[in-house]
Amino acid sequence: MRVIIPTEVRPGERRVAATPQTVLRLAKHGLEVSVQAGAGLSLGLPDSAYAEAGATIVEDARTLWAQAGIILKVRPPEQHPALGVHEASLIPEGALLICFVWPAQNRDLLDRLRARRASVLAMDSVPRITRAQKMDALSAMANIAGYRAVIEAANQFPRFFAGTMTAAGKVDPAKVLIIGAGVAGLAAIGAARSLGAIVRAFDPRTATRDQVKSMGADYLELPIKEEAEGAGGYAKEVSSAFLQAEMALFAAQAMEVDIIITTALIPGKPAPKLITAGMVESMKPGSVIVDLAAEQGGNCAMTRPGEVVVHKGVTIVGYTDLPSRMASLSSQLYGTTVVTLLEEVWKDGRITINLDDQVVRGALVAHEGKITWPPPTPAPAPPPEPGVAVKAPKVEQNRVNHQPEPKPASGAVAALWAVLGAAVMLGIGVTAPPTFLGHFTVFVLACFVGWQVVWNVKPALHTPLMSVTNAISGIILIGGMLQLAHARLDAPTILGAVAVLIATINIAGGFLVTQRMLAMFHR
Ligand code: NAI
Repeated sequence: MRVIIPTEVRPGERRVAATPQTVLRLAKHGLEVSVQAGAGLSLGLPDSAYAEAGATIVEDARTLWAQAGIILKVRPPEQHPALGVHEASLIPEGALLICFVWPAQNRDLLDRLRARRASVLAMDSVPRITRAQKMDALSAMANIAGYRAVIEAANQFPRFFAGTMTAAGKVDPAKVLIIGAGVAGLAAIGAARSLGAIVRAFDPRTATRDQVKSMGADYLELPIKEEAEGAGGYAKEVSSAFLQAEMALFAAQAMEVDIIITTALIPGKPAPKLITAGMVESMKPGSVIVDLAAEQGGNCAMTRPGEVVVHKGVTIVGYTDLPSRMASLSSQLYGTTVVTLLEEVWKDGRITINLDDQVVRGALVAHEGKITWPPPTPAPAPPPEPGVAVKAPKVEQNRVNHQPEPKPASGAVAALWAVLGAAVMLGIGVTAPPTFLGHFTVFVLACFVGWQVVWNVKPALHTPLMSVTNAISGIILIGGMLQLAHARLDAPTILGAVAVLIATINIAGGFLVTQRMLAMFHR
C-alpha cells in the first residue's frame, strides 16, 4: 500500500507530516511512501533527503493524491489553491486519512470525508489515556507551543528574564504569570524558569498545584474552593463566582508582573476571557502578553489571532502557529505520533479498523461512508448482582466522579483483627524456640519500618526509591557469601551462590538506574 505525504497548502504552515526518519519507519512495515516534491523545504530538507530514506518524489499534487492508500497530513483538508479543488475531493475512495480534523468545528469537512467513504483518524481526537501517550500529537505540539511562547515573549520584552547585577546597577528579574497549567502551561513554566524569571501560575484543577511547584513556580491560591477537574484530565467549566474570583486575582497580578502567558482552555468551548482591556492597560509599559488560546478566540480581550498588537505600551502576541515556528522539531514529533497511530491499524499488511480499540475508536471521525464522531461514551459498568459484594475501584472513581471516599472498615472489624493478630503473636512467643524469636522480631520490625518508608514516599519517587533499594541488596550478598564459606557443594551453598549472583546484578543495576535518573536532572 502507498502512503502519500502532500505539501501543506495552508499559508504559513511549515510543518510536514513525515520526516526522513519516519519514512524509514513506514518502510519497515512494508509501506511504499510518496512525498510531494518540495514538501520538506520548509524544514530545510531537500527532496533527496526523503529519496535517500526510500520515498518516491512526485512533482504533481494531483498524481500524488491519486496514488494514495493512506494520506498523512498535518492540517485538515482544505481548498487547494493551486488545483482549485478541495483536498477532500482528491482522496481516493475508501483511503485512510490521518491528520488534525477538529471535528467539532468542521462539520462541513466531515460531510465531505463521509462522501469519499474515507476512514479518517483525527490526531486531535486521540483520547488522552496512558496507552495513547505516544500518539498524543496535541500534547507534543502544546509542549513546543509553551516553550515557544516564552521565546516570543523574550523577543518582545525589553529586559533580561534573570536578575542581574552589573557595574551600572541592579536589574530585577522578570515576573511571569502563567494562566492554565496544562501541557503548554507547564512547558512555559519550565522555559521561563530556565531563563531565570520569577514564575507564578494558576490553574483551577487542583491536581496541577504539585506539578506547578515541582517546576519551580509559585502556585497562586484563590480564597474560593472549587474543583475543575473534568473527565480525561481536562478541565470543566468553572462557576461564575470562581471566574470572578480568579479575574480579581489576575487584575492584581497584572499590575505586578511583566509577562503573562495564557493557555486556559476547556476542550470544545471558546477560550474563557480572563484578561480584560482594563487589566492590559494596568500593566507596566513594555509588558508582554502571549495568548496561546488566540485560535479559540483568545483568553485576552485585546488579542488579534495571528497578529502582534501593541496597546498603550503593552505587546499582545496572538500567534496561532507557534509549533510551526519550530517546524523541524514539530514535524519530527508529529510524524512520530502519526506513524504510531498508523501502527495501531496497520496489521498483517492491511488496514484493520478495530472499533473495540479505545484509541482507534476515539480518533475515528469517519468510516465506511458514515460520520463516526463523537465516539460513544463508554458504557457504565453493569450493576452488581444482588447479594454479590463488589469492591469499588477507589482511585478511578474518585478522580472521575468526585465521589466521597469509601468508609474505612468499622471499628469493630479493626478491633477483631487486632485481637487476632495479638493472639497469633502470643502463640508464636510461647511455642517458638528463642533463636527463631530473635529473627522473627527483626523481621516484624523490618516489615513495619519498610512499610512506613515506602508508604510515605510520593508515587513519583517510587522508581528512584526502588533503584536505590536494589542497590542495598548488600545484606543478601553477605548472607550468600557466608553460605559459600562452607566450601561444600550442598543445597545451601548452591542457593548462596545464586543469591550472590542475583544480589550482585541488583546492586550493579540499581546504581546504574539511579545514576541514569540523576543524570536526567543534570544540565
Ligand atoms: P490543556 O487542556 O492541557 O491545558 C489547558 C489548561 O487550562 C488546563 O490545565 C485547564 O485546567 C486550564 N483552564 C481551563 N479553564 C481555566 C480558567 N478559567 N482559568 C485558568 N485555567 C483554566 O491544553 P494545552 O494542550 O496545554 O493547550 C493550551 C492552549 O494552547 C490551548 O488553547 C491550545 O489550543 C493552545 N495551543 C496554541 C498553539 C498556538 O500556536 N498558539 C499551539 C498549541 C496549543
